[in-house]
Amino acid sequence: MEETSRETFFITTPIYYVNDVPHIGHAYTTIIADALSRFKKLSGNEVFFLTGTDEHGQKIEKSAAEKGLKPIELADRVVGRFKNLWRELNIAYDYFIRTTQPFHEKGVQKIFQRLKDKGDITKGIYEGYYCVSDENFLSEDVPLEDDGHKVCPDCGKKAGKVSEACYFFKLSTYQEPLLEFYAKNPQFVRPQSRMNEIVSFVRQGLKDLSITRTTVKWAIPVADDPEHTIYVWFDALHNYLTGIGYDWNLELYDKFWPPSVHLIGKDILRFHAVFWPAFLMAAGFPLPKRIFSHGWWLKDETKMSKSRGNVLDPHAILRTFGPDSLRYFLLREIPIGLDGNFSHEGFVHRVNSDLANDLGNLLQRTLTMINNSFGKSIEHMDEENFQDTVLRTDMESLKEKVFNHFEDYAINRAMEDVWVYLNSVNKYLAENEPWKLAKDASQKNRLARVLYQAAAAIRAIAYFIYPVMPDSAAKIWEYLGESGPVTDETYNDLAFNNFKLGQKIQKPEPLFPRVSLKDFLKEEEAKSGKTVKEEQMNIVTFDEFKKMDLRVGEILKAERVEGTNKLLKIDVNIGTEHKQMVAGIAETYTPEDLVGKKLIVIVNLQPAVIRGVESQAMLLAAEMEGKAYIPFFVEDIPAGAKVL
Ligand code: MSP
Repeated sequence: MEETSRETFFITTPIYYVNDVPHIGHAYTTIIADALSRFKKLSGNEVFFLTGTDEHGQKIEKSAAEKGLKPIELADRVVGRFKNLWRELNIAYDYFIRTTQPFHEKGVQKIFQRLKDKGDITKGIYEGYYCVSDENFLSEDVPLEDDGHKVCPDCGKKAGKVSEACYFFKLSTYQEPLLEFYAKNPQFVRPQSRMNEIVSFVRQGLKDLSITRTTVKWAIPVADDPEHTIYVWFDALHNYLTGIGYDWNLELYDKFWPPSVHLIGKDILRFHAVFWPAFLMAAGFPLPKRIFSHGWWLKDETKMSKSRGNVLDPHAILRTFGPDSLRYFLLREIPIGLDGNFSHEGFVHRVNSDLANDLGNLLQRTLTMINNSFGKSIEHMDEENFQDTVLRTDMESLKEKVFNHFEDYAINRAMEDVWVYLNSVNKYLAENEPWKLAKDASQKNRLARVLYQAAAAIRAIAYFIYPVMPDSAAKIWEYLGESGPVTDETYNDLAFNNFKLGQKIQKPEPLFPRVSLKDFLKEEEAKSGKTVKEEQMNIVTFDEFKKMDLRVGEILKAERVEGTNKLLKIDVNIGTEHKQMVAGIAETYTPEDLVGKKLIVIVNLQPAVIRGVESQAMLLAAEMEGKAYIPFFVEDIPAGAKVL
């Protein structure tokens, strides 16, 4: 048979700075990339998954000096930690690039030279403020503080003045070509809200970018002017080219370039969606197909980062729960574009309930019942007399849904749908009561049918969860008597009755440990010597809840509170009287949007004065990415109606 060439899929993570030991935030991007790669492989693509480390620049230079190390010694040490963590998390990358590798340094110098020869890089003098922590030049609008420095709007650290001769990249020349490119590729950045952000940023005008320094020594020198070293972001972004073989393995490069998706956190979107395509256009490379910008994991509602000192060490969780629980939690808990708050309580609850209870129990019960009634395998099943095919047909539609969700980066939705199906298998067992059928010899055929269907459904579930939980999927596969790896079956070939009669099942070990929150925190404390704060959910009694007077309010008037961008002053009719309230919703709604709308208002809250305006009531709204969204009534409910 003639071999058909498979579609290629090239996926990348950011390359991580080596001043920082890896934390849950870094693990998050890498786990998403791993799950998507595994899914793409199942669905028949030839995948290349690139990750690595960003090792040059002032930040690393400074960090190493503080530790009494040479920069490369620090880099070697931290690279080891990243690689270890990726191994423990079952990350199957194809290549790990380090920007200190000679082929990368040569590649960057070569491209730099090409742009210089072409006139896109020219010499000048840079005057401005530089944030070492973000390795970023601040925009001119950032105000100057009294003591002569500026404060970085992204990380809050001081940025010092820099004035030196340097090379500029003519970013301004690429404003129009970039806008044209975005217009032609409206899905270049996802989610959509981030695409809009980038378009409006570029529309405001692009300044030329300083891309060399004379005071930073730990960096790649400009080949023909080595007094100057190359800006760490110019260096780092080109890892995506050198990591796929440019220009030392052109066969690999030709096969996979351009990238199918650069996965990044929203903190580094501008570098990827503006600077990077401009550099590539200038050097004449085809542009990446997609930049997917994910949200942040927060701890206590602030971004987890080393500089904020609130990072969580994934090892702590891995020791107790293993890789799959962490992978599942991070991917299941939030949609990829949004932020999520990490709490130990949320984590333990999710893995105990979904993994230990729902999935673990179903597997254990089903295989134990097969074992008790049929020994190692179900050899025979009466197809003709039983017409219950719902698990089979639902599996077919689940197969399509899961596929579409993965294609759309909605891994959380894929897992949600798998769990809906999983619970329907539990329901099927509850309704058919195989434990009763097992006691009645005349029901042997029926029993075989019920247990076969449950096992076949579990096999399909194992397949669907494989990209997210490769270890557990492989174990289930083995317990069900499969001899090869999960990846032997392509997504296309997956079918309910690929679970064969006569397949020799095994008695499973419990897949997921059930650990109580208390025990988990206790163990953490013993190991780290630190007190781990237990995030308790506040319980409100019904009597306490009843004290709140919630009413339907009708908005009569709304206006902006002077001197603020976020606040609106709203007059609301609550039936018996009118009240005035101040709400932080001006970024989502204009006053005209609101007049006449009906919503839920807490009317007996103690009044407060906000920005000089008295607020006598409060509205209910959901928060998403820092903006508030109000649930309005669609029905015409009279103002003042009680909300129970
Ligand atoms: N070295 C640059 C990237 C260069 S890419 C050409 C860099 N490195 S970093 O070590 O700071 O890693 C940033 C990335 O780590 C983020 O874009 C994101 O992918 C991940 N995360 C770091 N903290 C995070 C959270 N708290 N939450 C989610 N992801 C975050 O920037």
